[in-house]
Amino acid sequence: MEHQLLDLRHRPLRDLRISVTDRCNFRCRYCMPEEIFGPEYEFLPKDRILSYEETTRLVRIFVSLGVKKLRITGGEPLLRKDLPAFLHRLNQLEGVEDMALTTNGVLLPKYAKALRDAGLNRVTVSLDSLDDQRFRLMNGGKSGVQPVLDGIEAAVQAGMKVKINMVVQKGINDQDVLPMAAFFREKGHILRFIEFMDVGNSNGWKWDNVVTKKQILDILQERMPLEPVDALYNGEVASRYRYKGSEDEIGIISSVSDAFCSTCTRARISAEGKLYTCLFASRGHDLRTLLRSDQTDSEIGAYIQDIWKARSDRYSEDRMTNSHVSPKIEMSHIGG
Ligand code: GTP
Ligand code: 5AD
Ligand code: SF4
Ligand code: SF4
Repeated sequence: MEHQLLDLRHRPLRDLRISVTDRCNFRCRYCMPEEIFGPEYEFLPKDRILSYEETTRLVRIFVSLGVKKLRITGGEPLLRKDLPAFLHRLNQLEGVEDMALTTNGVLLPKYAKALRDAGLNRVTVSLDSLDDQRFRLMNGGKSGVQPVLDGIEAAVQAGMKVKINMVVQKGINDQDVLPMAAFFREKGHILRFIEFMDVGNSNGWKWDNVVTKKQILDILQERMPLEPVDALYNGEVASRYRYKGSEDEIGIISSVSDAFCSTCTRARISAEGKLYTCLFASRGHDLRTLLRSDQTDSEIGAYIQDIWKARSDRYSEDRMTNSHVSPKIEMSHIGG
C-alpha cells in the first residue's frame, strides 16, 4: 500500500482545488467588491498564469501524492479559454476519482454540453437569492437571477448533477433562506447554505453579519422539519440534512460557527501556480518557478511533500482567539 502523506495534524492530502483564473464577470460584495476590483485592478497577465500543460503536470504530481478529488474554481472558471479540453485531460489522469467545477452559472448555457462531453459529471452553482434586486445588490449589479437559473437548467439538460451554494448574510439575504430551500427542493438540487466567512481582506466581514448553522436550521425547521444524514465521506465540508419523510437533502457549511479544520484534506493552487495549504493562508508556495525550471516531477513532488508535512493550518478553529492581523489571500485567487 502506498504510504500516506500526512501533515502535522495527521491529515492526508486528498483534495486539490485548482483556480484557473483570477477574473470574474461578477463583483460579489463578499468576494470581489467593485471598489477594489474595479477598472484599475490589475489581474494576472497571461504569462504569470499556469498553462493547461503546466497545471496538468502539477495535477499528475499531486495525484501521485494521494489527491483523488479535483475541483476547478476561479474567479469564474468558465471565463478561461478552452476549459473543456483541459477538463478532458484531467479526467483521463489515472487516480482521479472525482472532478467538479464551481461556477456562477451564467456561462453554462454556452458550455454545459462541452463540459459534459469532456467528462464533467457535476457542477456547483453559486446563487444567493431568487429576488432579482437583492441578487443584483449582492453580485455588484452584474446579473439578474434568470441567467443563473438558465445555467442550472443547461447543466441539467446536459446530464450533470447540480448543487447550489448560497452564502447567507444577516440583513442582506437571510429572508431568502426559506424560498431558496423550497425552490431547490422542488427542482431536486441539493442546496448548501454557507456561513459568511472572513476570507480575503476586503469583504468587510463582521461576526454580526454571520447567520450561523444553528440559525439557518431554526429558520428551516419552522416550516420544513429536517433530520441529519451521515457524512458521505470523512472530511465532508457540508453537514447534510434531509427533509423528514423524503430523500431531499440540504447541506450547511459552518466554517465560522463550527469549524471543520481537523478533517481538512484540501490543498489549493492559484491560477499563478502558488500552493496554499489553507483558504485563509497569508502566503503561498511558488510552484510555477519550479515548473518552469529544470526540476523533475519527483523533485517537485518532494518539495510539495515537505510543505504538506509541515502543515499545521487550522484558521477557522483559531478564529475565536486570533486577532488575525496578517493579510490573507483573496478568495478570487483560490476560489473558495
Ligand atoms: P462537494 O465535493 O460537493 O462535497 O463540494 P465541497 O463542499 O467540497 O465544495 P464547494 O466548493 O462547493 O465548497 C463549498 C464552500 O465551502 C466553498 O466555496 C467555501 O466557501 C467553503 N469551503 C470549502 N472548503 C473549505 C475549507 O477547507 N475551509 C473553509 N473554511 N471553507 C471551505
Ligand atoms: N464567505 C462564504 N462563502 C464565500 N464564497 C465566496 N466568498 C465567500 C465568503 N466571504 C463562496 C461563493 C461560492 C464559493 C466558491 O465560495 O459564493 O459559492
Ligand atoms: Fe465571482 Fe464567485 Fe467571487 Fe462572486 S463569489 S465574485 S461569482 S468568484
Ligand atoms: Fe482547512 Fe483552513 Fe478551512 Fe480550516 S480554515 S478547514 S485548515 S482551509
